[in-house]
Amino acid sequence: MALLEVENLKVHYFTQEGVIKAVDDVSFSVEKSEALGLIGESGCGKTTIVSALMRFVKPPGRVLGGKIIFNGRDIVTMNDEEMRLLRGEMISISLQSAQNALNPLMPIRGQISEKILEHECVTKEEAWESAKKQLELVGLSGDNIKSYPHEFSGGMKQAAMIAIAAACNPKFLIVDELVTGLDVIIQRQLLTLINNLRGKWRPSMIFITHDLAVIAETCDNVAVMYAGKLVEQASAVSLYENPMHPYSQALIQAYPSTRGEKKQLRSIPGAPPSLINPPTGCRFYPRCSYAMDVCQEMEPALKEADGHIVACHLMQE
Ligand SMILES: Nc1ncnc2c1ncn2[C@@H]1O[C@H](COP(=O)(O)OP(=O)(O)OP(=O)(O)O)[C@@H](O)[C@H]1O
Ligand SMILES: [Mg+2]
Repeated sequence: MALLEVENLKVHYFTQEGVIKAVDDVSFSVEKSEALGLIGESGCGKTTIVSALMRFVKPPGRVLGGKIIFNGRDIVTMNDEEMRLLRGEMISISLQSAQNALNPLMPIRGQISEKILEHECVTKEEAWESAKKQLELVGLSGDNIKSYPHEFSGGMKQAAMIAIAAACNPKFLIVDELVTGLDVIIQRQLLTLINNLRGKWRPSMIFITHDLAVIAETCDNVAVMYAGKLVEQASAVSLYENPMHPYSQALIQAYPSTRGEKKQLRSIPGAPPSLINPPTGCRFYPRCSYAMDVCQEMEPALKEADGHIVACHLMQE
């Protein structure tokens, strides 16, 4: 059994404009030590999925159905005390909001040792020492260890978030939006940090980013989402070399190749649909150059084809 199994997850937001079907019947799994990349255009439901995994969905959002089985237990029906304990094993960092996630009134080292104390049976002194080690691991040491968040640069704050997460030795790490809005040198350093930590304690991971090169470098497998649905899942290598869903093809075509031959950058014609009234059938058909009648009439089920899991009528024969 996989470490994490998400089955038919449904998370909707009940807004005044209507019900936003942000995550609509999504299933996938993550094995022990596997790193799964989650990609798809802005607003397709990536953050909503990981919020549900951490039970962070707040009104107007609601988890309407499905199961999230972590280590044999269902997160959806777990009581608050079980969930509190689980948060030490399963940790989510949204690096984009590192700024807000750190307590401005407490030195960073104190925040890490507090986190360690929450989850481990150690003395205060041990936690304090361990916090220092974690900071050194992410390249923050010496003069930095007593600093308050406002004395840290953006990249240092993100590194501190990684240190806090690593302090708990999680079985599962969720990283949302690692590289957006940062300069490339810091991006590189943070990525190296994540990869080092991964090599060290092999947690399972879900990695959300808009940068396909980062996924190729860090993830074993990739899940592609479109408008609240999972449309394809495959190994990272196979998804790049042989994307099967027309949306995955378009997404990869649209991404500038960072190595090898120069590809013509193509944008995907049209825009993602409203998640209040999504198209019937396949949600991608209005933008799909292979669309057939059946695509509008019937939603394609996820099927296995050439080692990929794909939801497309082209693969259903
Ligand atoms: N708190 C909220 N209230 C109402 N609607 C929301 C809320 N959070 C997200 N949504 C809507 O749910 C849909 C999915 O949003 P989500 O943030 O999960 O997308 P995403 O894939 O993470 O996008 P991005 O790549 O921009 O981070 C979007 O249509 C968004 O507008
Ligand atoms: Mg997001």
